[in-house]
Amino acid sequence: MGKTYSKGLEGVIAAETKMSFIDGEKGVLEYVGIPIGELASHSTFEETVFLLWNLRLPKKDELARFQAELRKRYELPAGMAQRLLSLPRDAKPMHVIRTMVSALSMHDLNPDANDIPSLREKALNILARTPTLLAYFHRYRIGMPLVAPDPSLSIAENFLYMLNGERPTETMAKAMDVCLVLHADHGLNNSTFSARSVMSTQSDMYSAVTAAIGSLKGPLHGGANEGVMVMLNEIPSVDAAEKYVLDKLARKDKIMGFGHRIYKSYDPRAKHLQVLARQLASDTGNIALYDKSKRIEEVMATAVAAKGIYPNVDFYSATTYHCIGLPLDMFTPVFVIARIGGWAGHVIEQMGDNRLFRPDVDYTGPHGVAYTPVTKR
Ligand code: SDX
Repeated sequence: MGKTYSKGLEGVIAAETKMSFIDGEKGVLEYVGIPIGELASHSTFEETVFLLWNLRLPKKDELARFQAELRKRYELPAGMAQRLLSLPRDAKPMHVIRTMVSALSMHDLNPDANDIPSLREKALNILARTPTLLAYFHRYRIGMPLVAPDPSLSIAENFLYMLNGERPTETMAKAMDVCLVLHADHGLNNSTFSARSVMSTQSDMYSAVTAAIGSLKGPLHGGANEGVMVMLNEIPSVDAAEKYVLDKLARKDKIMGFGHRIYKSYDPRAKHLQVLARQLASDTGNIALYDKSKRIEEVMATAVAAKGIYPNVDFYSATTYHCIGLPLDMFTPVFVIARIGGWAGHVIEQMGDNRLFRPDVDYTGPHGVAYTPVTKR
């Protein structure tokens, strides 16, 4: 078979999926053929996860059963909370969740079972318990009592409830849920590639999701939403945005929340998040954040849109998460909660038609080198 070198695997197709379709030129994203805008407007995160894992929307009773399966797993296994509360209070939430999802495997009687029913069971456990792990850690690090999960609440609502110790408003719960829908799956992004690559060795669901969390943490990937917020906080006013952006571009710095390996047009998720960010910013007295974002977008449109650089999913999610009241270092962990829906689905797809991921490498070092004894070096 002929070998071609594509740095960063750009343009290489490494798997097949029936879950999400992206047209980068037209700015189209569909989950199982349904446009992302339809799902953001009419679906819920739980229904969207069912769609991704079953490749169809659930009937009413199926959705109720799926929700019940998730909600009965919100509680942590015995011993997990104690392990969580032994971590340093100043540990970073992305390191915490990478560690604790991995630790969940030690409470699974059959962690390496890779038959599809077992993989689905593990996926339910990880998805249901990740919000609890994150919220418990946050309460612990701020010295507040843990808030036990409420199985009458959705994943989005329950996460905000456990995090803040009070029920979120309907608006905030809905905004959180829409964000989870928008972030659930996205083709073979780096973290999904990582999950599928690990699963292709027939390892296990916990190892695959742990690897994916490590990948998502990177500022070029899921970590960008935190980087956007840092940038918005650094820019003192709307008027200062243009100089800030142009100076960074002049230094060849990347503007967080912009650009994409696949989208060479406006990320359809960003369009939805922009509307959500504007509404929430207006409701919560943060309209300056939104105005700065719009100004940055205008400057970037003039400076780099010709290169196909547009806002991506992380640009307006930053303002949205801030207005929902999430701490800055919880922005990327929220992306983890959502993307477990995609990662778990891809792990199951990989096992359904597996071939070990093993690309080749172009060796550029020397040959025929004699061994030099240490006494002669
Ligand atoms: C996510 O893959 C997915 O689907 C990811 C994701 C998902 O849902 O899983 O969509 C989520 O990770 C979104 C991306 C979040 N990352 C950021 O916002 C970080 C900032 N963005 C860039 O680092 C960059 O755009 C990437 C990493 C997202 C994509 O980079 P590529 O495809 O490797 O593009 P590149 O770095 O080769 O850039 C091509 C050109 C370069 O200019 P030249 O050297 O050709 O002159 O575009 C420039 C880059 O300098 N460029 C940017 C830029 N992104 C690209 N210039 C300024 N700011 C940017 N953000």
